[in-house]
Amino acid sequence: MIDRQAKELRLQFCKCGQEHVFKFWEILSSDEQSKLIQQVKTIDMDYLSKIIDGALHNASRQKNIGPLAPAKFIKFPNSEVDWQKWKEAVAIGEQKIRDGKIAVFTVAGGEGTRMGCIVPKGTLQVTPIKKKSLFQVFAEKIKASERRYDVTINWIVMTSERTHNETIEFFGKNNSFGIENIHFLKQGQMPAITAEGKIIMETTSRIAMHPDGHGGSLKALGRSGLLAMLENLGIEILSYFQVDNPLVRCVDPYFVGVHVKNQAQVSSRMVRKLYAEEKVGVFCESNGRCRVIEYFDLPKEQAMLRNSEGSLVFCAGNTAIHLLDVPFIKRFNGKDIKSEIPYHIAQKTVPTIDSLGEPVSPKVPNGLKLEMFIFDILPFADRTTILESERGANFSPIKHLEGMDSLKTCHRDQVKLFASWLRAAGIDIPMDANGLPPFDIEISPTFADSKHDFLQKWENLEGKPTIAAGQYIE
Ligand code: UD1
Repeated sequence: MIDRQAKELRLQFCKCGQEHVFKFWEILSSDEQSKLIQQVKTIDMDYLSKIIDGALHNASRQKNIGPLAPAKFIKFPNSEVDWQKWKEAVAIGEQKIRDGKIAVFTVAGGEGTRMGCIVPKGTLQVTPIKKKSLFQVFAEKIKASERRYDVTINWIVMTSERTHNETIEFFGKNNSFGIENIHFLKQGQMPAITAEGKIIMETTSRIAMHPDGHGGSLKALGRSGLLAMLENLGIEILSYFQVDNPLVRCVDPYFVGVHVKNQAQVSSRMVRKLYAEEKVGVFCESNGRCRVIEYFDLPKEQAMLRNSEGSLVFCAGNTAIHLLDVPFIKRFNGKDIKSEIPYHIAQKTVPTIDSLGEPVSPKVPNGLKLEMFIFDILPFADRTTILESERGANFSPIKHLEGMDSLKTCHRDQVKLFASWLRAAGIDIPMDANGLPPFDIEISPTFADSKHDFLQKWENLEGKPTIAAGQYIE
């Protein structure tokens, strides 16, 4: 049986110039042979060949997509009229949420390489006083929305081969933080390849694989049946965000309202870049389509370009917070190469074997990884909306252990945000020139998830606490 299957697969791989995958077949044990077959069976080689071919030959096309202009965006409300529109959008968004049309989607499959993470990033303890994990923060925000809108909200957490088991265990230990409709989705993988497009073997019986990028989440949704489940439940919009940003509003009525009002297929939240070299993607327009250009792909002269008032022209930084229309994302599920999110290529150091099958640990990149990025669906959309966010209220990602965008800066940003809500409620708390109080405070998402919610709750709160160092409000 295994011999017949092996023969067929071998033939298919051979046809695609990948016969070396079976180079050591004859000397593998039967256990190793069946493991290799299991792995090879998950790869559609004809399709993969097209992807490899496209990625290797279109790499320059991705960098060459015509003249770039800054994307248009809806500015943060700044006038009576704007605030009136804000109110209208919030009302529309709240109705959609109440009607059960929104599900939440967190991508948490990254390998956390920059942080040297040995645990899934979502389990990192991030809040200033209670040291809640990222997953707990999101869960509490979702729970709070469920209560506020009297609805159950489905939450999909995308994991990867590396983060899957530990993530499930973590949620299990914590009773899923009270979320009933939680779904774990393991993202897909891609073989690592050489610059010539040859699949890299990690051992004589195993192909070197890596996660296929957060853009792979759409195919994973389709494969797993979750997309069909969402459709059956009548869910129209996925509220998508990355696991690394505890300030995200998981269910954001204003954002949803604007998305619905504009009949957008994809909407994205942006923040103004702090400085030209900030490592965020930038929303741009080219050939009449909206797209994100990663910071390393944006030409320096454009990144540095300033208008007459001195502010950056390409200023719309990608927070990776998006609303995705369910009918729209269905199209990325088939095998139609025209609806294929393009693959980006990055160099990677891949442990491998030499010609005799002996292990080799290269010190410099020896391979390429192919990844899809979620924001590459933007150019496929006829209607997109980019909405400006207040950075301090929506975006403080944790990318590094120290320095910029670290646990420390995120801790600071949370304390600053909570202090700003208290000050807006008329509480006189000390602060430095940057708005940071000299002590830690924390407001639970179960109490409020935005200044607006906080002010309402605070006003009606009986026995208001005196705010002092270490104050936790829930
Ligand atoms: C990302 C965006 C960038 C944006 C910034 C905002 C990309 C390529 N760039 O940069 O435009 O300005 O966030 O913070 O995404 N992930 C998976 N599976 C994968 C790969 C990643 O789930 O296969 C998840 C990670 O868990 C992480 C997130 O996606 O939460 C971001 O991935 P990362 O590679 O860290 O992107 P950034 O460089 O942070």
